[in-house]
Order: sequence, then C-alpha cells, then structure tokens
Amino acid sequence: MVNFGKIKLISRSFTTLSSAPLRICVVGSGPAGFYTAEKILKAHEGVEVDIIDRLPTPFGLVRSGVAPDHPETKIVTNQFSRVAQNDRCSFFGNVYLGSSISLPELREMYNAVVLAYGSESDRSLGIPGEELAGVHAAREFVWWYNGHPDCRNLSPDLKNTDTAVILGQGNVALDIARILLRPTEELAKTDIASHALAALEESSIRKVYLVGRRGPVQAACTAKELREVLGIKNLAVHIQQADLVTKPADEIEMKNNRIRRRVYELLSKAVPPGHTPVLGQRELHFVFFRKPDKFLESDDRSGHLGGVRLEKTVLKGDDELVNQVAVGTGVYEDISCGLALKSIGYKSVAIDDLPFDNYKGIVPNVGGRVVTDSLQDHMQIETGLYVCGWLKRGPTGIIATNLYCAEETLACISDDINKGLLTSNSPKPGREGLLQLLDSRNTKVVSLDAWKKIDTEEIRLGHIKNKPREKLTTWEDLLKVASE
Ligand SMILES: Cc1cc2nc3c(=O)[nH]c(=O)nc-3n(C[C@H](O)[C@H](O)[C@H](O)COP(=O)(O)OP(=O)(O)OC[C@H]3O[C@@H](n4cnc5c(N)ncnc54)[C@H](O)[C@@H]3O)c2cc1C
Ligand SMILES: NC(=O)c1ccc[n+]([C@@H]2O[C@H](COP(=O)([O-])OP(=O)(O)OC[C@H]3O[C@@H](n4cnc5c(N)ncnc54)[C@H](OP(=O)(O)O)[C@@H]3O)[C@@H](O)[C@H]2O)c1
Repeated sequence: MVNFGKIKLISRSFTTLSSAPLRICVVGSGPAGFYTAEKILKAHEGVEVDIIDRLPTPFGLVRSGVAPDHPETKIVTNQFSRVAQNDRCSFFGNVYLGSSISLPELREMYNAVVLAYGSESDRSLGIPGEELAGVHAAREFVWWYNGHPDCRNLSPDLKNTDTAVILGQGNVALDIARILLRPTEELAKTDIASHALAALEESSIRKVYLVGRRGPVQAACTAKELREVLGIKNLAVHIQQADLVTKPADEIEMKNNRIRRRVYELLSKAVPPGHTPVLGQRELHFVFFRKPDKFLESDDRSGHLGGVRLEKTVLKGDDELVNQVAVGTGVYEDISCGLALKSIGYKSVAIDDLPFDNYKGIVPNVGGRVVTDSLQDHMQIETGLYVCGWLKRGPTGIIATNLYCAEETLACISDDINKGLLTSNSPKPGREGLLQLLDSRNTKVVSLDAWKKIDTEEIRLGHIKNKPREKLTTWEDLLKVASE
C-alpha cells in the first residue's frame, strides 16, 4: 500500500505554486545520500529533499556492508535517521531508479537529482573458471552474511572444504576472513543474518588464504582492521619470512605513507620467531606476490571449484615515483580449496540515459556535477544532475569520506542555486508526482514510517535471541512487515 501520510501535509503547500519549494531527489540512502541530504537541508531552508532507495531499508552499506561485529560503526545510522525525520525530508524505499522510474522521469519531477546509488557490481578478474560453483564475489558473500535480500539464497558451500581463498588484501577481504575464522559464539551476539550464522556454525573451513598480487608493504588494508584479524582467538598466522624482505622502493613507499608502514610493521611481527602452531588451531595464511591465474575445477565434483592457480609476481616501478606494479613471472602454484572469494573491488552500474564512464566505473563528473563526457574538449554539464559517494569517486573510502564528498557536491548545488540555474520558478511535482506515478505502476513504496515497522520488528526478534537485531532477509518478509 502506498503510504501518503506525510504527503498530505506537504501537498497543502503546493496550492500556491509561486511559493513552491525547490525540490531535490537524492537516489540512494547510503552515507553519500544521507550526508548530501543533511547538508542540503542545513544550507537551504526552502528546499525539500526526497531520498529514494531500491531497498525497503535505508542506510546502504552501513546496513549491508559494514561487518556485523562492528556495531560501533553502525551508530552513524542514528544521525541518518534524524535527517530522515526532518519535516522537509522524506524517505521512499522499494523505489528502483531504472525500473520503478526512469532517470528522465525523475528529472521531470524534481528541480535537481543527486545520484548516490553506490557500487552494486564487481570488478572482474577475467580469468578462466570464474563461473565454477564455489567462486563468489566478495560483495555477494558480504550481502549474504549481512542479510541483503538479493543474496538470501546464495548458500555458499562451507561444508565441503576446509580451505577458503580470498583474492585481494583490502579491508573487505579482512572482514570476510574475520567472519570465516572468528568463533561463532562471538558472532552470535551480533546482527549477523541467522542463515549465515547457522552456516558458519556448521562450517568446516579451517584455513583461510589472503592473497595479494603485491607485497606486505602494498597490502590495501588498514592497521586497525589488520590488528583485529590477527587478534582472533585460537588462530595460527602464517607468513613467508622471505616475503617480508623490503627493497629501496618499499622503504620510500613506507616513508611517504604512514598507514603502509603500520601495516607492514604489524605483518612483520604477526608471526613471532620460532613460533609453532598449536594442533587444531584455525589458520590464516597471508600470501604475497601472487596473482590469480585461473580457477581449477574439482576432480571429484564436476562444475565445482577445486583450487586456485596463482602466478608468482615481482614488483616493477620507478623507485622515485613509487608506483610499483605486479608483473607475472611465468611461475605458477596451486592452492586446493572449495571456496574462493574475489575481493578485488566493487563497481558501479550504469543506468539508461545517464552518462557513464565504463573504464572507471563511475558517472563522469566535475566536483559532483554530472558531465556528458569527461574529455575536456567535449565536456557538457548536465544541469540539475549531480553525483556523490562511490558512484562519483569509485569504490574506495570509508563512511566519513562520503561526508567530504557530499560537501563538494553541495557546493555545486549551492552555486547553481545562487546562479539561478536551479529555481522553483518552474515548479516541479516533487514527491506528490513521484508517488502518483509509482502508485499507477503498483509500486509498493516503503515510507519512513513503514521502515520503522521493519526496524521495530527486527529489534524485537533480535531481543529474543540476545542480538541487537534479527534482520528480515527476504523481500517478502520486508514488504509484508512494512505494509502491516
Ligand atoms: C563490505 C564493506 C564493509 C565496509 N565497512 C566499513 C566500515 O567498517 N567502516 C567504514 O567507515 N566504511 C566501511 N565501508 C565503506 C563504506 O561502506 C562506503 O564508503 C559507503 O557505504 C559508500 O557510500 P555510498 O552512499 O556511496 O554507497 P552505498 O552505501 O552502497 O549506498 C548506495 C545506496 O543506493 C541504493 N541503490 C543502489 N542502486 C539503486 C537504484 N538503481 N535505485 C535506487 N537506489 C539504489 C542501495 O540500495 C544503497 O542503499 C565498507 C564497505 C564495504 C563494501
Ligand atoms: N573497517 C573499515 O574501515 C572498512 C571495511 C571494509 C571496507 N572499507 C573500505 O571500503 C573500500 C573498499 O574496500 P575493498 O577491500 O573492496 O577495496 P580495496 O581497498 O581497493 O582493495 C582491493 C584489493 O584488491 C586487489 N586487486 C584489485 N584488482 C586486482 C586484480 N585484478 N587481481 C588481484 N588483486 C586485485 C588490490 O590489490 P592492489 O593494491 O595491488 O591493486 C587490493 O588488495 C576501501 O576504501 C576500504 O578501506 C573499510
């Protein structure tokens, strides 16, 4: 059922079109969307902001990316909830830009549109065997354990193997390693999806390999996250001592980058000299200077993963510029495993009628203003169309990075308002028009009040199990509770 509760109030102010507010739609309710909305509302008193999201739930990767054992990171959702409760702000979930409504339609409804729909696809390795059962993108695996409804049925097989290989050494790779290796009694107290907890409780995985194509100095993770994975109870860490030997270029790299030095130092001390693993311990192996070459099919189970072939690499690069890249040596080795997780970065998805830079996987923009072509000579600004977050910069940066990103996008919007490029002189239908169109298409819009029903139910269910929340993980359950 479409919830028009809040709309009725607002539609009264539509009677005098001359005093119509400027109407802005933000697409995506992750950090980029919420920070942008918050900043617009603060900076411009006469502006109304509607946030749409394809999910019935808000908060983007704070809900479906941030690891369940990082509850402190999710506190930011309190700030986002306050933004959504602002009288001049509305949240409309279950509204999919590109299928519920097209971009040209949305632009017709609003004076400006800010795209903040993140990165919901994956970089591809482009190597043989990626289609084998047992090979998953990190994004899917993370969505699975975080209860994203699109990955409810992923069912990664954790029972037929004792080894998982994670390709990539960024913070997402570390999150996944931690979830696979952490004692499940500890995970049981988090908001991890119950289907994932059950699978992890039965998991036979004892060894996790974290594979980097470059060395320990170039590992893409940060120190706090590395310390956490190294501190898992009853875990034996393995690193080849030879991989820890640095070259002059590595030393320059560490001199210029404090995070790299901290990460390297932690890795160097992770395995004390003479340390022998205790029998029965779970194992975490850091593998450096190896790039994925192919996924190997199992001999026993047709169509299933049996291992990963890695090519040894050396680093080449200018010692001064310190841009060392991994180059294959033609020497290969295999790791037997039944589960492989590609954690080599996310990628944004193009939608119809939107300029898109396929190479960079972002919407071409100048400081947040969408341009039709990023080449200087042909650049044309799309008036009233802006971008923020991972869709603007690419899939890197922590939650707070999107705050600075939103400030930059807001500066463009404010500038365009001041220049008279965005004006309510030609009033737009805004949320009233949007909801009418969605209603005519039988889209079940999830309002803020409807999301609160989901929230309350999840917290209630969690309380029973001594968890902060028990997420609803199917589209049916989410929409059912929202419409009750
Ligand atoms: C696995 C993982 C763990 C992370 N952990 C941390 C952490 O612990 N701490 C930290 O600081 N940072 C963490 N980050 C980084 C942080 O999550 C990102 O910087 C941030 O979420 C990016 O914000 P965004 O708004 O651009 O995208 P997102 O958070 O992805 O939000 C995009 C939103 O757009 C919606 N959407 C997508 N397509 C459409 C569409 N077509 N129509 C309508 N809506 C759409 C999505 O449903 C989503 O709600 C993590 C990232 C990942 C991947
Ligand atoms: N707790 C937290 O704060 C937290 C948690 C999760 C995520 N995040 C943030 O979210 C962002 C995304 O994280 P991420 O881990 O997805 O990305 P990332 O930090 O960019 O790491 C990607 C990893 O994949 C490797 N890689 C890329 N292409 C490859 C290829 N073709 N073959 C082999 N390896 C390849 C990279 O190696 P190279 O370096 O050699 O390219 C790197 O190790 C990051 O900014 C991260 O800090 C933060």
